[in-house]
Amino acid sequence: MLYNQGNSYPNAYLQILFQITRLGALWERNFKGLHQFVKYYYHKEVIMTTKGNRLKERVAFITGGASGIGRAIAERYISEGARVVLFDRNTELLKSVKEDFGEDCVTVEGDVTAEADLERGAAEAVKHFGRLDIGINSAGLGTYAYITEQTEEQWDTVIDICLKGVFFSMKHEARQIMANGEGGVIINIASLNSRQPAEGYSAYCSAKAGVEMITRVGAMEMGSYKIRVCCISPGAVDTPLIAGLKDNPSLFEELIDNAPLGRIGTTDDIAGAALYLASDDASWVTGDTLFVDGGGLTKRYPILSDHIPLLKGLMTKGK
Ligand SMILES: NC(=O)c1ccc[n+]([C@@H]2O[C@H](COP(=O)([O-])OP(=O)(O)OC[C@H]3O[C@@H](n4cnc5c(N)ncnc54)[C@H](O)[C@@H]3O)[C@@H](O)[C@H]2O)c1
Repeated sequence: MLYNQGNSYPNAYLQILFQITRLGALWERNFKGLHQFVKYYYHKEVIMTTKGNRLKERVAFITGGASGIGRAIAERYISEGARVVLFDRNTELLKSVKEDFGEDCVTVEGDVTAEADLERGAAEAVKHFGRLDIGINSAGLGTYAYITEQTEEQWDTVIDICLKGVFFSMKHEARQIMANGEGGVIINIASLNSRQPAEGYSAYCSAKAGVEMITRVGAMEMGSYKIRVCCISPGAVDTPLIAGLKDNPSLFEELIDNAPLGRIGTTDDIAGAALYLASDDASWVTGDTLFVDGGGLTKRYPILSDHIPLLKGLMTKGK
């Protein structure tokens, strides 16, 4: 993951320290604090100061951009010369991300279930930076309930955010990208659960399967405007969304065992895939889903019914 070329020696040492503590943190709880400390300086000194140019002059609109995967994609895009508009409903997180990213970043508070918010958000990219080239749709969450016990409200919450929110986002991103006349790319964040069922997550799995399909339909409809539409389906990634998993080491280990590469994903893993798909290297890729899951799709998803008490609150934690 040493994608920053031409660093000074202190930065090279910082990169090595980052990798060592990251590996340590994956195996040993006591390494976590040290890793967080090194990660802070690594991001400040290496990622934020080392500019590439794979996305030079491009503008990206990112839903769910204040946290986890969306935030990491924003950070990687800025390091490659892009400017970003981050759309999220979490005011506090938006404030903190704006402080970290500075003038290359504009934040818009809004909810992906409200079409008017997305229309305003995508327009903000053009108002502020003059154009829109890339849409990233990452806002999402899940709630745990068996089909026989799930309420209409629980079902609607997940479907509205994870599927209807992606439809609204694509609609308004595409309209703004079409206006620039040069084409662009929309990348939807689905999940391993778009194909691998997980009991208790019927709404989430259904929504994510829908995201894969709307990606393919979008690719057909938008190809003539030179807009590529792609999807990334991550396996388990270390973000606030699944932070509660660490309270249950046996389930956490099962998720790791589920992936042939034997570790949980990092947000950098997903940001790397999102950089490839947004870059000219992927100029003939559309309608496709890239699984970034350590190979998790090759195996079965962990049996979740042994861990019900934990799962009831898990995927909405921290909101
Ligand atoms: N973390 C994982 O293991 C994992 C695995 C597969 C797929 N995903 C998907 O990746 C995407 C990002 O998840 P993450 O892990 O970065 O989670 P996260 O909780 O760190 O970030 C999600 C962001 O979306 C925002 N959000 C949620 N609902 C919103 C709404 N209605 N309107 C506007 N913003 C809203 C949240 O405020 C948050 O900032 C989600 O779609 C998730 O389903 C995550």
